[in-house]
Amino acid sequence: MKTVKDYIRTIVDFPHEGILFRDVTTLFADPRGFRMCVDQLLAPYAGMRIDKVVGLEARGFILGGAVAHQLSTGFVPIRKKGKLPGQTISQAYTLEYGEAVVEVHDDAMQAGEKVLLVDDLLATGGTAEAGIKLIERLGAQVIGCAFVVDLPDLGGRKKLESMGMDVHALCAFEGL
Ligand code: PRP
Ligand code: MG
Repeated sequence: MKTVKDYIRTIVDFPHEGILFRDVTTLFADPRGFRMCVDQLLAPYAGMRIDKVVGLEARGFILGGAVAHQLSTGFVPIRKKGKLPGQTISQAYTLEYGEAVVEVHDDAMQAGEKVLLVDDLLATGGTAEAGIKLIERLGAQVIGCAFVVDLPDLGGRKKLESMGMDVHALCAFEGL
């Protein structure tokens, strides 16, 4: 039987030479693969209180929307700078080259709410860390961080776990 990992395509030398790009579009495009992936993402949280699912732009929106629908929770997007129309709070994070900024509406979560953070892939953990900081600055609590792919050699899981986070990933690719 095919696993979630089997549906993920690897593109060599994208976006630049030497990078193996783990492409989840082939997983999302397959009806069995996509359902399996969403079901497995939310499985550890069965029976737990979750008020909001937060998805990280852009691929985290696809997964987060599906997970929120399945859990009957609200969905909140964390977006790259300048995309959200209302009052926002911002958080900078480090990329391979330079810095980026993500934002969330300042009224998107209430203090005390329990949040599940969702994204497609965990690499250095910089994006997820910025998301967690935004959620916590609004007074909400991250009860889990769920990813389809973990790249353990890039250290993201260790970084999030050292922040006290519970990290759930459906599969891992060793090596860069
Ligand atoms: C990718 C991926 C994660 C992030 C992981 O997104 O979808 O969100 O990088 O990397 P990190 O753990 O080192 O932060 P990307 O920034 O390429 O943007 P996209 O999802 O909008 O394509
Ligand atoms: Mg992303």
